[in-house]
Amino acid sequence: MKTMFKYDGNLGKEIRCSGAFIPKDLDKDISEVLKSGWINTGKKEKQLREKICNIFNAKYSVATTSGTGSLKSAYSAIGIKSGDEIITTPWTFIATNTAILEMGAKPVFADIQKDTLNIDPKSVEEKITNKTKAVVCVHFAGNPVDLDQLRDICRKYNLPLIEDCCHAMGSYYKDQKIGSGELCTFSLQTVKIITCGDGGFVTTSNEEYYSKLKKSLWFGIDREARDGSLNVDPFFDYMPDTLGFKLNMNDITASMANIALEYLDTCLQRRKYIGERYRDAFGNFEKVSMVKYHDFNTPNYQIFPLFVEDRKKFAEIMWENNIHVHMNNRRLDQYPIFGGIDTSLKNVQYAEDHHIMIPCHYEMTNSDIDKVIDIVTKYEKI
Ligand SMILES: Cc1ncc(COP(=O)(O)O)c(C=O)c1O
Repeated sequence: MKTMFKYDGNLGKEIRCSGAFIPKDLDKDISEVLKSGWINTGKKEKQLREKICNIFNAKYSVATTSGTGSLKSAYSAIGIKSGDEIITTPWTFIATNTAILEMGAKPVFADIQKDTLNIDPKSVEEKITNKTKAVVCVHFAGNPVDLDQLRDICRKYNLPLIEDCCHAMGSYYKDQKIGSGELCTFSLQTVKIITCGDGGFVTTSNEEYYSKLKKSLWFGIDREARDGSLNVDPFFDYMPDTLGFKLNMNDITASMANIALEYLDTCLQRRKYIGERYRDAFGNFEKVSMVKYHDFNTPNYQIFPLFVEDRKKFAEIMWENNIHVHMNNRRLDQYPIFGGIDTSLKNVQYAEDHHIMIPCHYEMTNSDIDKVIDIVTKYEKI
């Protein structure tokens, strides 16, 4: 059985699980940057931050080198340090939680909801102790968590809530666009709804966090606040008062992100079409079920997870028909770096045993969508 796709310079004719949306009109803007002589963080990056604030209804934003960098910068903005605990989900891409370890802090796993795959607010509250310094949630598959419930808990215990929005660009929770919250981290990595190769951003509604985010991106220095009065040292003409990283986005990357963002609505519409075709087709299946979307949510279909009875069989049938399927996520508590399996997390095991992702991305043709539906139906009828 074929099980893995390895890029050998030829993408082939398979229906891939994810794809990269690369706008055709990148050249003009990028060559303008290249010819300008300034490719470091500059005009294009500033333009990008303004665009991000407008699109995601955010008060402030910073641009970063990746979603992982966005998370580190957010953890740093709330002052996470060695020995602190952050309550988080074990069902996410590994970066949500490795970034906690990189800060010297400890991820404490809450259980997830079996039907949404999102962190369970009840379990979050049960895990809070006096070592807890923050809660992080992931809008898994672009299906927003119940923010009202999580925000109430965080308010009650005076904890910041970080939203890992790396799956949720363009999703809505009730009438709130994801990204308009207290501290929201995004990725612009290749399989995201829009991409600049690698990159990310953080949005915040909090001025103090904004000031800290800016410093965290560049060695503890706010690049825009440098006054240059000494006129001798362009970098350190004032002293950093905190330890920062090197996570600032350059203008070549920002220029690709600026153009790609112009296509966000187009990409979202296409994914909505694909996602709704799947939901109509699989709605009454017995061996295949889907993630629950609450009526008040608008998902973005960043990924399309299924639960299947016999995953090995399902994967075999899909791969035999040249359709790529992946787990992409595993229960993270099982990895030694996170301390080993926590048997009290009941629902995450169901995801570990039955979850699988099917193709859902802009590059899919209508006949690709038909074929995926046909083959999933074939599995259902075995
Ligand atoms: C939920 C989640 N968090 C964090 C990340 C890390 O983003 P990046 O790959 O841009 O560092 C990803 C990337 O796929 C993700 O899906």
